Amino acid sequence: MKVCIAYESKYGNGQKCVEHLKDIISNKGHAVDLFSVRDVKPNELLQADIYVFSAPTQIGSPARKMKKFLKKINITQEGSKYALITTHSSDTTEVLKKMEKLLQPTGMTKITDGLKIKVTGMKGPLEDSYEEKLEAFANDILGSG
Ligand SMILES: Cc1cc2nc3c(=O)[nH]c(=O)nc-3n(C[C@H](O)[C@H](O)[C@H](O)COP(=O)(O)O)c2cc1C
Repeated sequence: MKVCIAYESKYGNGQKCVEHLKDIISNKGHAVDLFSVRDVKPNELLQADIYVFSAPTQIGSPARKMKKFLKKINITQEGSKYALITTHSSDTTEVLKKMEKLLQPTGMTKITDGLKIKVTGMKGPLEDSYEEKLEAFANDILGSG
């Protein structure tokens, strides 16, 4: 399985999550690439079986850089799948639904309900259980194919 992770992170909490996710996935023997949306253009994403997009919740929406990225994404590999992550500081977030809507035109298939990871303050730190949540998320996405 080949996994491509693209993320945005302002204070580094989301980055810490996706770096950990990358380690989990590669330790399970899968190929995984990790990119910041600040460094890669939406049409430059490598081909993958599963795409993971991760962004902080900001003003009730995905962070602007991720929003712009998802709007322009152009994935042509038939049967591509995706899963979403958001970090957030309030008790709830509707951002995963908003990200899903932005990806609808691509025709990619959503493979999990996504992962919400709470930060205990605006700048972090991450909730205690973030590593277990990421382990379960990795098992979910890798088991989906
Ligand atoms: C401008 C701004 C707006 C934010 N708005 C929200 C919000 O509406 N809801 C929420 O739960 N968290 C909000 N946050 C907190 C972010 O979700 C939190 O800083 C982020 O998840 C941390 O991840 P990061 O370190 O990867 O940036 C906001 C943060 C910033 C900087």
